[in-house]
Amino acid sequence: MTTNIPNLTLNDGLDIPAIGLGTYSLNGFEGAKSIQTGIEAGYRLIDSAFNYENEGAVGRAVREASVPRDQLRICSKLPGRHHAYDKALLTIEESLLRTGLDYFDLYIIHWPNPKQGKYLEAWQAMIEAKKRGYVRSIGVSNFLPEHLDHIVSETGVAPSLNQVELHPYFEQAEQREANAKHGIITESWSPLGRGKGDGVLQDSVVKAVANVHGKTPTQIILRWHTQLGAVPIPKAGSREHQEENLNIFDFELTEDQMEIISAFSVNNQRLWNQDPAEYEEF
Ligand SMILES: NC(=O)c1ccc[n+]([C@@H]2O[C@H](COP(=O)([O-])OP(=O)(O)OC[C@H]3O[C@@H](n4cnc5c(N)ncnc54)[C@H](OP(=O)(O)O)[C@@H]3O)[C@@H](O)[C@H]2O)c1
Repeated sequence: MTTNIPNLTLNDGLDIPAIGLGTYSLNGFEGAKSIQTGIEAGYRLIDSAFNYENEGAVGRAVREASVPRDQLRICSKLPGRHHAYDKALLTIEESLLRTGLDYFDLYIIHWPNPKQGKYLEAWQAMIEAKKRGYVRSIGVSNFLPEHLDHIVSETGVAPSLNQVELHPYFEQAEQREANAKHGIITESWSPLGRGKGDGVLQDSVVKAVANVHGKTPTQIILRWHTQLGAVPIPKAGSREHQEENLNIFDFELTEDQMEIISAFSVNNQRLWNQDPAEYEEF
């Protein structure tokens, strides 16, 4: 089990580990087993979402793992169709019932869906959910700088983290800066570009950097995230990949090596064309 994972402190005082486990597509009994394996391997931050339909699997993994609840950081997300204030609160209650947990450590708004125009209302509900003790720390996902400015100026409450698409093809320098301006930690979704086979993980220069450190290209990419100050949440189903992905805190990339990875962002590309200004997820 890995024990050398550093912690970061969110702007509301909650500490979270510098890497977490993504769980998209880890569903049902098998998914629960994989998530439990992840916890046994050393993950303490577990991502989930109402829309992944795996809050039940996460809850089972938490109950069956041999790690005390207070050492885990469990996160879920509010879907776009439930942004209205009362619906949002009910949805968080329903998420809790699905997991069988008494509280979430983190709950975040999955997408701003700006055309729908209700993300401020959703944020007000999140503030209330925290007051009611449903969740210890509240955040957002896929919020562009203007969405952050809007909710902060209207409520005076900044999210603790913003989970955004971030990988070597899309290093998100401006977004990271906008998050930092509000004291918001950046979390990276699809940190490995979903294992996109034809690029960075197969690149000979990245392989050379990996060889210098006695690491794999995957570990180099995840280390790049943490050195940017972002928290990657790679999804991995097998114990082997889960352990590999955690084993990134015993070496450091040089500035030049960081640049080699960032250079893949030359086109600054979202990989699935999901621009939060336009894209809507319900
Ligand atoms: N907020 C949002 O809108 C949003 C959007 C997308 C994703 N997310 C979250 O972010 C998490 C991670 O993103 P993602 O699942 O899209 O993609 P990802 O973590 O970038 O990549 C996952 C893929 O990489 C493979 N992989 C993992 N470790 C590996 C290793 N060491 N060697 C080789 N292959 C490896 C996985 O396969 P194996 O399982 O076989 O290891 C899987 O196919 C999601 O699971 C979800 O929790 C959030």
